[in-house]
Amino acid sequence: MSESPVFVPPPSKGQAGVDPYSIPLDKIDPSDPELFETDTLWGYFERLRKEAPVHYCADSPDGPFWSITKYDDIVYVEKNPELFSSEPTIVIPDPDPDFPLSAGFISMDGAPHNAHRKVVQPVSSPRNLRKLEPLIRERVTEILDSLPVGETFDWVDRVSIELTTGMLATMFDFPWEDRRKLTYWSDMATASDEQLVEMGGVPEDREKALRECLEVFTQLWKDREGKDRESLDFITAMANADSMKGLAPLEYLGTLVLLIVGGNDTTRNSITGGVLALNENPKEYDKLRNDLSLIPNMVDEIIRWQTPLAYMRRRATRDTELGGQSIKAGDRVVLWYVSGNRDETVIKRANEFLIDRENAKQHLSFGLGVHFCMGSRIAELQLRVVWEEVMKRYRQVEVVGKPVRVKSSFVKGFAELPVVLHPL
Ligand code: HEM
Repeated sequence: MSESPVFVPPPSKGQAGVDPYSIPLDKIDPSDPELFETDTLWGYFERLRKEAPVHYCADSPDGPFWSITKYDDIVYVEKNPELFSSEPTIVIPDPDPDFPLSAGFISMDGAPHNAHRKVVQPVSSPRNLRKLEPLIRERVTEILDSLPVGETFDWVDRVSIELTTGMLATMFDFPWEDRRKLTYWSDMATASDEQLVEMGGVPEDREKALRECLEVFTQLWKDREGKDRESLDFITAMANADSMKGLAPLEYLGTLVLLIVGGNDTTRNSITGGVLALNENPKEYDKLRNDLSLIPNMVDEIIRWQTPLAYMRRRATRDTELGGQSIKAGDRVVLWYVSGNRDETVIKRANEFLIDRENAKQHLSFGLGVHFCMGSRIAELQLRVVWEEVMKRYRQVEVVGKPVRVKSSFVKGFAELPVVLHPL
């Protein structure tokens, strides 16, 4: 899930590298993407949790918003969806009226949200995932076995993107040889006009790509209508659901894009984030080498530590009060999972990466409540399989250079991570 064309990174405010305590509280803008690119966000969120857990930023480039930074307050907002709506969008900027693509059911409320979610949810049931696991493992194995040993390469490009694309192709039962199209459509759906131009294209390319996406998926939908399959994929689930009959093409496209984009950057950045965290915490890497049964717990800890989506946005439906602050109907309310996951009043030793942490599942990275991530089990399965297979092959995936982080306060992730593989 990345920045949509309606979410162009705003200009930086020069907060990175500055002592967070030297800035007047009301001037802090935690959505400054440079804080994320430079990994200097932590002091700002620590200060907000301590001094202004419900904080108002009046002059962000995308308009004013409230920041919710403490674990319990985030839980409260998530559990009151009638008071804090997901419409019209889950990112800070409002949707661009000139770009009609729906963001899918993640930005719907109430009955329409439930109806759409119910259709695709069985794909991520434990029973269905048990059927899909052997294929996911086979594809992970194939990718890992093709990697160079003993020479520097970019883990993001060669491994995280490849593995995530393979996983998505499996979940859609998408033609394997065309799987890179999923990454391409995801990138096109999420690139800003500026990024499209940087890539040598024009903004119209986006519409062309998404039309192609819709065409290919419409054909797959037709092929799978009325068919029963051994394991359930997203398209078969939608093509055979009564509630999806008569779905407008752009709505179908919106749900597809949500599923592709939702599983793409998030899983990709968790795979990369885990490698970096283990390298930065060699004692944890030793613990893992000595006890591979820690892998499932480590996966939870990696997802907490990375927090691949830093926030979700809500809109207050009526005047309300939170943390002693008066929030007005219509105000934007931003749930900073990245901060809640480091809230020491709830998570012990929250600023340490501990692969054998108790209650490692207690993190907020998948959100909570009615919008709780529908792909959480898929992501956990993918990461578990990746680490089981990595540990069968390599003593260390060694990070040999500085990570390049994405300039975004929404997708918290990596553009590059140079590594060298050391076999067992
Ligand atoms: C580590 C990986 C992932 C993370 C951190 C993540 C995170 C999230 C978050 C924070 C939300 C919003 C929750 C809320 O508003 O309370 C969400 C929703 C969603 N995610 Fe994920 N996600 C991940 C992987 C996936 C995958 C693999 C898929 C599917 C292939 C997926 C599909 C979705 C969908 C469809 C929703 C919307 C659910 C709803 O609105 O009911 N996610 N995810």
